Amino acid sequence: MTDLLGKTRSTHNCGELNAKHIGKEVVLMGWVQRRRDHGGVIFVDLRDREGITQVVFNPVTDKEVHEKAHAIRSEYVLGVRGVVDPRPEGMVNPGLRTGEVEIMVAELKILNTAQTPPFLIEEKIDVSESVRLKYRHIDLRRPQLQKNIILRHKASASVRQYLNANGFLEIETPFLTRSTPEGARDYLVPSRVNPGQFYALPQSPQIFKQLLMISGFDRYYQIVRCFRDEDLRADRQPEFTQIDFEMSFMGEEDIMGISEGMIKNLFQDVLDMEIEIPFPRITYAEAISRFGLDKPDIRFDLELKDISDIVEDSGFKVFSSVVKKGGIVKALNAKGCVDFSRKEIDDLTELVAIYRAKGLAWIKIREDKWQSPIEKFFTDKEKEKMVQRLAIEPGDLVFFVADVPQVANEALGQLRNHLGKRLGLINEKEFRFTWVTHFPLLEYDETEKRYQSLHHPFTAPFEEDYELLSTNPLAVKSRAYDLVLNGSEIGGGSIRIHQRDMQEKVFEALGMDRKTYEEKFGFLLSALDSGAPPHGGIAFGFDRLVMILCGQPSIRDVIPFPKTQKAACLLTNAPSEAGKDQLDELSLKVKRLEP
Ligand code: AMO
Ligand code: AMP
Repeated sequence: MTDLLGKTRSTHNCGELNAKHIGKEVVLMGWVQRRRDHGGVIFVDLRDREGITQVVFNPVTDKEVHEKAHAIRSEYVLGVRGVVDPRPEGMVNPGLRTGEVEIMVAELKILNTAQTPPFLIEEKIDVSESVRLKYRHIDLRRPQLQKNIILRHKASASVRQYLNANGFLEIETPFLTRSTPEGARDYLVPSRVNPGQFYALPQSPQIFKQLLMISGFDRYYQIVRCFRDEDLRADRQPEFTQIDFEMSFMGEEDIMGISEGMIKNLFQDVLDMEIEIPFPRITYAEAISRFGLDKPDIRFDLELKDISDIVEDSGFKVFSSVVKKGGIVKALNAKGCVDFSRKEIDDLTELVAIYRAKGLAWIKIREDKWQSPIEKFFTDKEKEKMVQRLAIEPGDLVFFVADVPQVANEALGQLRNHLGKRLGLINEKEFRFTWVTHFPLLEYDETEKRYQSLHHPFTAPFEEDYELLSTNPLAVKSRAYDLVLNGSEIGGGSIRIHQRDMQEKVFEALGMDRKTYEEKFGFLLSALDSGAPPHGGIAFGFDRLVMILCGQPSIRDVIPFPKTQKAACLLTNAPSEAGKDQLDELSLKVKRLEP
């Protein structure tokens, strides 16, 4: 048979033909979504990334072609030539962009056959994620995933266009490098030519972008892969993508301003949505106090209140003893939840226990009385103060957690997010951004018994806090800022330390001696000594941003080839064992762990 119009190219895609094209001869290429046999006439839904077009094989049009069409099965790859016809009356499909027309096929080329697919290429399929990940190339044919990946492309194009227009240079940084500490474990790569030595894959380009500032490449950016060996969740992957940028001679305002412009532009380009800037700002201390978390979801109120002063002398020893030991009692007034059952309250107690709360006390506010196992411990005066502070009314259910501040805040903060969803307080269509600023520079790690950076060790402290670094390190505030969207941390950055002596002081506060930090970061210290301009920057979690733009629940839905919870790629079966020869070449020996 002759080639399709003498060429193998299509004239249109499968999503664009409509009534305007009636009478035209067209060539389409695509995959078989469905084949239906209707009393001798064969209908095929032909699919490509743009949509679906119905093509018709009628023995009246061409007997031979119709005969050949019997062989067509799902996911076969076809080329067809034919004329665009209006669909018969009553057969128009308004749900389909091409629903007004169909192609009467005069020529068919089966470009490839296909095994029966392991699942249907449809939205609502009842198949486990592991099967979908094993056949990811087929899963990616589903319209939602196609939409996500296309949107991801639009998002990166928008970001590049915005940053290019604002004078940023896209510059690459190495993957085979030294450890960049961002709080996770490193992925190591053995060096064949340097036996016993390893590269670390970058947790971020942090140090290199600072070096680029020192080299004079002001305004750098990169849409870049980062690698972190950490416990995975719905919003975390071992390799993920950042929009990373850095600027010299700039302060917090400039970096936040560029970030806001970039996000506004992104929402406009991708969702055609107007985002209001500048974004509101909240300090870390205020975020923790009001919302319990450093990534507050500000789409709803339900704020936490500290009632330590009210209950410090109360008869309920759990509360008073916690306050006496320097802890706090925080409360959350769940409006209108008085009828929660015992089981429901038990479930919430289990939820806060995940965040280490030792219990969840509660009081139900009935019209005539307070109902609770602990109500009897409080005096009328204490109750009156609670009514005032928590705006208590009949119908409310008040929850309390007493603990060290970190636990009480986090447990109730998580309970707040849970109740926000459950009580329908969240408008899922809304995008609420907030900057969180004035983070502590350091936190104390109880297990390791030492201070750690809350962000990374290159973050600058506020100048007025310099003195505190040696006297009260936990009180030092940093010039770091996070961008939070709907309760999810989508970006974080800071003004950096650009003087060697300050960087050394911070390394020392982190418990490193001179020998250790010279060995690990000597190159950076020497670079800071070579004329480092003041600089700062930020990185956004690109996968998280795209996930939110797509309205998807997991970043796995916006990453073409994601990994499982156990950091495996089910499609390629990575990671896998290395052969003896390869290990020998790398001077490596695997220590077999007993099963
Ligand atoms: P940070 O560690 O906060 O900062 O990372 C920036 C943003 O990257 C996203 N992110 C992740 N996304 C998916 N999977 C992960 N495992 C993961 N880890 C982080 C988050 C986060 O806000 N070098 C600094 C930035 C700077 O200071 O300029 C950094 O990497 O959305
Ligand atoms: P108990 O005195 O242990 O029977 O506890 C009485 C109530 O107080 C129970 O509802 C517990 O869940 C709650 N409770 C116990 N410890 C705490 C705590 N640290 N914070 C808040 N509630 C607590």
